[in-house]
Amino acid sequence: MKGVILAGGSGTRLHPLTKITNKHLLPLYNKPVIFHAVEKLVNAGIDRIMIVLSPQYLDDFVSVLGSGQDFKSKNTGHQIQIVYGIQNEPGGIAQGLCIAHDFIANDSVVLHLGDNIIEDDIALHVANFTSGATIFLKEVHDPERFGVATLDKNKRVTEIIEKPKDPATNLAVVGIYIYDNTVFAKMEGQPKSDRGEYEITWVNNRYVDEGTLRAESVKGAWFDIGTFDSLLTASNYMKEKHLSEKPKAQ
Ligand code: TTP
Repeated sequence: MKGVILAGGSGTRLHPLTKITNKHLLPLYNKPVIFHAVEKLVNAGIDRIMIVLSPQYLDDFVSVLGSGQDFKSKNTGHQIQIVYGIQNEPGGIAQGLCIAHDFIANDSVVLHLGDNIIEDDIALHVANFTSGATIFLKEVHDPERFGVATLDKNKRVTEIIEKPKDPATNLAVVGIYIYDNTVFAKMEGQPKSDRGEYEITWVNNRYVDEGTLRAESVKGAWFDIGTFDSLLTASNYMKEKHLSEKPKAQ
């Protein structure tokens, strides 16, 4: 299993914070945002990660993450390997995944949006993954802001609707996905959406058509740090977590 973290995009909702830097390099209390996705994948036993980003921030990402020297593999105890893929323009999440096609080769992949942070551990889901695709769902109070999934009784997804006006469930699709290698064949001939992007929901719905999209629920906190308020809430949450985990002075 390989890992791909998307760290491109425009970050327009965070202007002016993201005028001179990238959203995923902003601080979340004591670490840059991007560290959380890298740690999530490393904790799931993934040793080879591609960060997909826009060209102007490549040097900054290399300064922060290098070749992965600060992250130790769960499997070997040695450093993991981080490589970089360039997305010239933000053409959508599915386009970001396509950039990693050669890197993924014949493997399966965890695709992690760099601005999403979950508290839950995905290691078991990664270890147990065999084929098809797995998405992660979180119950929310405002499902109309997200991709919303409907499930059958075997946890198979029957439909995902992007930002529905009248949501059928309150199950929002989190920005972490596990795909088998057929994901690339499924993306062939994908049309751009009305907003001009290659949408990941379209790809997920190809797995729905095939009956191979499973869903797991996410426990604990989930943040998408794309707005000022969510960035601040996530920062405060990380501060509390850090302080509560810090060993107390004797
Ligand atoms: P979004 O938050 O949907 O888009 P954005 O980051 O451009 O922000 P804004 O809406 O404020 O302009 O992106 C979700 C995640 O996917 C985020 O981590 C950035 C990443 N992404 C890419 O890497 N490439 C892309 O083409 C897009 C659209 C997003």
